[in-house]
Amino acid sequence: MNEPGPRFWEIFFELYDALPRQGPGNRACAARALALCRDLPPSPAVIDLGCGAGGQTITLAELVPTGSIEAVDNHAPGIERLRATIAERGLASRVRAGVGDMADPPLPRGRFDLAWSEGALYSIGLRKALRVCHDLLRPGGYLAFTDAIWRREDPPPEVKAGFDLDYPTMGRLEDDLAAIRACGFEPVGHFTLPDEAWWDDFYTPMERRIGELRGKYAGDDEAAAILDRLAREPELHRRHSAFYAYAFFVARKAHGRGGERPSK
Ligand SMILES: C[S@@+](CC[C@H](N)C(=O)[O-])C[C@H]1O[C@@H](n2cnc3c(N)ncnc32)[C@H](O)[C@@H]1O
Repeated sequence: MNEPGPRFWEIFFELYDALPRQGPGNRACAARALALCRDLPPSPAVIDLGCGAGGQTITLAELVPTGSIEAVDNHAPGIERLRATIAERGLASRVRAGVGDMADPPLPRGRFDLAWSEGALYSIGLRKALRVCHDLLRPGGYLAFTDAIWRREDPPPEVKAGFDLDYPTMGRLEDDLAAIRACGFEPVGHFTLPDEAWWDDFYTPMERRIGELRGKYAGDDEAAAILDRLAREPELHRRHSAFYAYAFFVARKAHGRGGERPSK
């Protein structure tokens, strides 16, 4: 497959920036993951890494009505959209969004009660991201994140090629659990996202938006080829979702003096 050029990225963001979410996930899954974080304080300090346009940030603000949330993403248009939503919903006193690199977020270490990240940690490498989360959390703090995993050993070549582009080191459920332990966390629970978490706020609006962009770019062959390429992802999921999944993982940083030291 060709390396994506500037026109690809222009249309990619024209598509993704308009979606309610930039990856799979929904409110029911967030609530289920949060329920696994049993000993959170009443008003937890939460960090949402790779928040995108903030679909799950706003859900978290609703699910943790007295908590404070710092949301970080390195894509400025998503942060602008989230800031507008925060203002519209009157959440500015306890939800903040900032442009930043999750590899080195401009936030204090050892302070957060809950580190949250949906579909984003893999962007900087899972182990590196887990170590960042470990540093951000206080001892006994919780980590909740989603990650793509292989469900079967033998994905069709087109599925393998699709993930190889974006997530070449994607592993199986056990690999993520091993990484969680190696980085100083104790796994608390995990579950697989149901199909509606892929479709309702992600692939269904994506396919609708692709249809709109096809109208906008009618007669533009380059744009049509890019939109065909982008349309492959939901189509592959329709045909091959048995081969991979998104899992929600909840884990806890060890109590004690700064927690267990993560292995490098
Ligand atoms: C698949 S999207 C998920 C967005 C959102 N969490 C959701 O589920 O809708 C991954 C997000 O990670 C962000 N991202 C990737 N690398 C990053 C980095 N180094 N620092 C901060 N954000 C990053 C991207 O900009 C994108 O918004």
